[in-house]
Amino acid sequence: MKGLILSGGRGTRLRPITFTSAKQLVPVANKPILFYGIEALQASGIREIGIVVGDTHQEIRDAVGDGKRFGVSVTYIQQDAPLGLAHAVLVSEHFLGSDPFCMYLGDNLIREKLAPLVTRFREEKPQSQILLARVPDPTQFGVAELKDGKVVRLTEKPKVPPSDLALVGVYMFTAGIHDASRAIKPSARGELEITDAIQWLIDKGHTVRPHVIDGWWKDTGKLEDMLEANRIILDTLVPRTDGTIERSDITGKVVIEAGARVVASSVRGPAIIGKGAQIENAYVGPFTSIGDGVIVRGSEVEHSIILEGASISDIGGRIESSLVGRNVSIYRSQHKPRSFNFMLGDRSEVGLI
Ligand code: TTP
Repeated sequence: MKGLILSGGRGTRLRPITFTSAKQLVPVANKPILFYGIEALQASGIREIGIVVGDTHQEIRDAVGDGKRFGVSVTYIQQDAPLGLAHAVLVSEHFLGSDPFCMYLGDNLIREKLAPLVTRFREEKPQSQILLARVPDPTQFGVAELKDGKVVRLTEKPKVPPSDLALVGVYMFTAGIHDASRAIKPSARGELEITDAIQWLIDKGHTVRPHVIDGWWKDTGKLEDMLEANRIILDTLVPRTDGTIERSDITGKVVIEAGARVVASSVRGPAIIGKGAQIENAYVGPFTSIGDGVIVRGSEVEHSIILEGASISDIGGRIESSLVGRNVSIYRSQHKPRSFNFMLGDRSEVGLI
């Protein structure tokens, strides 16, 4: 069985971060989201993984390499335009051949172990096995209707949902999905939808098995979900201090990486302080990931993800529920007249109080 991770796409919901970087490389608890997917497939026994990449291919290749350090072999598959999840399957056909495979959306995180599901799929040999999660508002998702232990219908973002079972971004397929992906037409938004390809399988009389997952699942395509994933993963951290702490108060689950310095500050976990970060006269509150080399001085940060190299100095207030990009600088200016000075990329968002 092979693995296929989808790491192309437009990432419009995470602009401006995705103007300069792949959303799958945004770190959750200081580890790129994509790495969780690679590790999950590896842990399920899969050793050959294809990664579908788009415009951000170089950054993804640089981050993942040949896969050796994850114990897998990685093949990159270029998708010239993000024309849909079923299109991503079609461009991967030369890599997948006639093998069954597990498809994993590169911006998704799930808690459940995949190994038992892979085993069940191999043993029962349905055409497809899809993962489902119960959600409070199914109108935002692809929703499955079940009958006699099989999936009978999939509907994208239904106005009147037939169930509360949303499609999770992990699917298992046999080679029949290639014919299905070739047979379907682009949807109203111009994409070859994987839900249409799976529906095609159902309509042709093939078995699509549902598996309702236990525990959480997060699609990190938008900021709130990214912060929520960060919150969930930070909560699983085992506290550790490899950096230095001076005159500071550290409580709860906190990881302080090598070379990081926390001086005259208060850090309340769960939180992670990346390598070489400097926290001075500052407060770092729960559910915060501070990236490598970040400086937080005379400021407060909580429930946020601060990426590598950013600096936050003397802002005289608290940053909350925020995602701050690499090497961003936020500081209090001493110049007169007192005014806000911005240099913001397209589609940046600033919330002032
Ligand atoms: P989505 O989050 O559905 O799409 P997107 O990445 O284009 O984001 P947005 O809606 O904000 O513009 O994609 C799910 C995953 O699949 C994500 O990791 C990107 C990947 N993907 C591809 O690799 N190729 C594609 O053609 C599409 C649509 C998505």
